[in-house]
Amino acid sequence: MKNFVRISEVGNFVDQIVTIRGWLYNHRSSGKIRFLELRDGSVGTLQAVVAPSNCSEQAFQTSGDLTQESSVIVTGKVKKHPKKADVYELDVTDLEVEQKADANYPISHKEHGPEFLMQQRHLWLRTPRQVAIARTRASIVKSIRDFFDNRGFVLMDAPILTPSACEGTSTLFETNYFDEKAFLTQSGQLYGEVGAMALGKTYVFGPTFRAEKSKTRKHLTEFWMVEPEIAFWSLEENMELGEELVSTIAKESLTRCRAELAVLGRDIPKLEAVAKGGFPRVHYDECVKMLQANGMPVKWGDDFGAPEEQKIGDLFGGQPVWIHHFPKEIKSFYFKADENDARYALGCDLIAPEGYGEVIGGGIREEDYETLREAVIKTGLKLEDYEWYLDLRRYGSVPHGGFGLGLERTVAWVCGLDHVRETIAFPRMLNYIRP
Ligand code: 4AD
Ligand code: MG
Repeated sequence: MKNFVRISEVGNFVDQIVTIRGWLYNHRSSGKIRFLELRDGSVGTLQAVVAPSNCSEQAFQTSGDLTQESSVIVTGKVKKHPKKADVYELDVTDLEVEQKADANYPISHKEHGPEFLMQQRHLWLRTPRQVAIARTRASIVKSIRDFFDNRGFVLMDAPILTPSACEGTSTLFETNYFDEKAFLTQSGQLYGEVGAMALGKTYVFGPTFRAEKSKTRKHLTEFWMVEPEIAFWSLEENMELGEELVSTIAKESLTRCRAELAVLGRDIPKLEAVAKGGFPRVHYDECVKMLQANGMPVKWGDDFGAPEEQKIGDLFGGQPVWIHHFPKEIKSFYFKADENDARYALGCDLIAPEGYGEVIGGGIREEDYETLREAVIKTGLKLEDYEWYLDLRRYGSVPHGGFGLGLERTVAWVCGLDHVRETIAFPRMLNYIRP
């Protein structure tokens, strides 16, 4: 009986014979010894040492003939690395080849540009770095689901095909729905509000779409968003919940994904600071003043772009920062105005440090029927498409709100990546729809 073990677990089997099933990531020779670097989808790689003295003549011959990405079953004794802590090697005793890969594997071990790697995304996903990202993303998704499930939120799936716009009409993907026009959803929020009135607290978690025509390192055209929505809710409570969510994601990533973050070379103390919580909360007006005092050319009424967000992150010493009370004019139609000063919307955005930008956008929704109806008309939206939404204000309307956390930006931030394109298996961006 073979003792099948995953690479991430070999440390538990020192001096024992184990079998690894995986792929040849890299290989080299030194004199009569061959070094095979194996990967198997767990974290990191394992060096398998093939020496003629330890294995059969046949296994030794085979090892010399392998190509990159050949699938292999390798048996050997686990050894602790003589110098490096937590590093292990395998002294190979037996080697089987499942398939010898075609010799022209496109991704070699030299540097490739992002254009090329994006075309090879289906193969690029095999590299240890991409595996570490994929694993961290999956762990973050679990943290998010556990977070809401443990707090009594009920998951509700919103439709992807919708008749209505949520976040403005300029980024809608339009499609034919039989004899009608439909759009790919920009946000599940409007349906989340239905859920809040039915279930008290709910969350929507799924893909959302925006026809973003700009190329930036933070925008995808298809991205995932988690959107909690809660009845009887305030702006303060909204920021409290968002902060708990983000600090929990940081904390759990640090414990569950230590090895992945090591592969990615993530700066751990930066994440530890986020895990502690206590995010500053700054009024929009205050933020404008701070930016102006630091030489940024912003004026009251502007929305913040990447340079402002970067500056805000820097000014608060690497902590995520809440900005609240945005000018009503720059926010979507559904925002409730501050009762004390209608120039402001009861909105809150969380700006991540290190230039990762806005990871959460949310706020309190207009609950008054007449006011919301006027906002729909003023925005140029078709009233008939929003009658169902207005019903929530006709029948038992309550103060309510929530937010949307962008999964890919969060993954980029936790993993310390330069670009959101690496945070999802098959990124969709301007000019990218293959593979
Ligand atoms: O701020 P946004 O547009 O808010 C909404 O859609 C609200 N309806 C959410 C709600 O209150 N339920 O988007 C929310 C978050 C942003 O903070 C950002 O993290 C992410 O979604 N996001 C994107 N991520 C990647 N690519 C894009 N094009 C994104 N647009 C928004
Ligand atoms: Mg936003």
